[in-house]
Amino acid sequence: ALIDKGNHRHFMQKEIYEQPVVVAQTLQSYLRPIEQMVALPDMGFDLGSIERVAIVACGTASYVGMIGKYWIERFARIPVEVDVASEFRYRDPVLLPNTLGVVVSQSGETADTLAALRHMKANGVTTAGIINVPTSSMAREVDLLLPTHAGPEIGVASTKAFTCQLAVMAALSVNLARAAGKLSAEEESEIVRHLIEAPAAINAALAHDDEIQAMAGTIAGARDVLYLGRGPDYPLALEGALKLKEISYIHAEGYASGEMKHGPIALIDDNVPLIVLAPSGPLFDKTVSNMQEAQARGAQVVLISDADGLAQAGEDAVATIEMPKVHPLIAPIVYAVPVQLLAYHVAVAKGTDVDQPRNLAKSVTVE
Ligand code: G6P
Repeated sequence: ALIDKGNHRHFMQKEIYEQPVVVAQTLQSYLRPIEQMVALPDMGFDLGSIERVAIVACGTASYVGMIGKYWIERFARIPVEVDVASEFRYRDPVLLPNTLGVVVSQSGETADTLAALRHMKANGVTTAGIINVPTSSMAREVDLLLPTHAGPEIGVASTKAFTCQLAVMAALSVNLARAAGKLSAEEESEIVRHLIEAPAAINAALAHDDEIQAMAGTIAGARDVLYLGRGPDYPLALEGALKLKEISYIHAEGYASGEMKHGPIALIDDNVPLIVLAPSGPLFDKTVSNMQEAQARGAQVVLISDADGLAQAGEDAVATIEMPKVHPLIAPIVYAVPVQLLAYHVAVAKGTDVDQPRNLAKSVTVE
């Protein structure tokens, strides 16, 4: 068959393992390594006139939007709003002139996102779409199609589409920043260098599969799991919790590290695994202090960080997963891998239907 699992047990596993190749493919269509630039397809409008960005998506794609907010605001200094599509349309959003509306969707057919796209267009908003299926409704209707080249994604839980969407979101962020006059050629070439490293870093993350599998048995027995992250790794904590819920049916929540003390810390005892996503960098110490607050209450911490971070704070964790050291820009692309593998192995340990989890559909074409 054209689409088969190869030597993988599930499509989800195969798609997780395809990421070094498909992310490289996606990046290739946006990076110009010789000029050290990030390029977008030709567009019929001036990116430099954009004064605000509204990103709309559902599910996993909505977390790409949240990460995009961190990137676009940081690099382009343009304000960004992110909404889940089902809320966007009915809250009668304020759509000011010079807004770029961005939809993110693997299928390009999700009913709520498509309706949000049509709402934006009807209100005169210029639109771009980060979309995996080039023949989809959204791909046909956006003003600027920014394709992800992830190839067909069969597993209901999105994996390779997510990391490819992030690669495109990074490219969009850099282009907005350049057009806004906020990015020097040197800064751009540095970002290009980091993005080019992403596929190799994803590969290095995949090398920890066996260790992650080994810890899945313990987590499979948990009733609740918490994921913490800061900055662009906060939406990744949300994605980690969503993946685990979707395929293992374990209740999980993602939280911004600093927000844990405002509620979820009440849940913590020694039966609650706490997955901490913390690349070393400017936010690391803050996240570690939140982690220690939880450890003092018995939380069983799995710390996902790089060698520097683990050397500094790994000692009291029940388990650690070492990621390659990467620039904070690409960290969410790389740290997505352990998050996906953990959900996958926990689901396999529980014996659930990994590729076709109960009550879920790959593409939700009804409101
Ligand atoms: C469904 C899938 C999710 C996906 C969401 C959005 O709920 O189960 O994995 O994130 O739809 O899908 P889209 O095709 O718009 O990215």
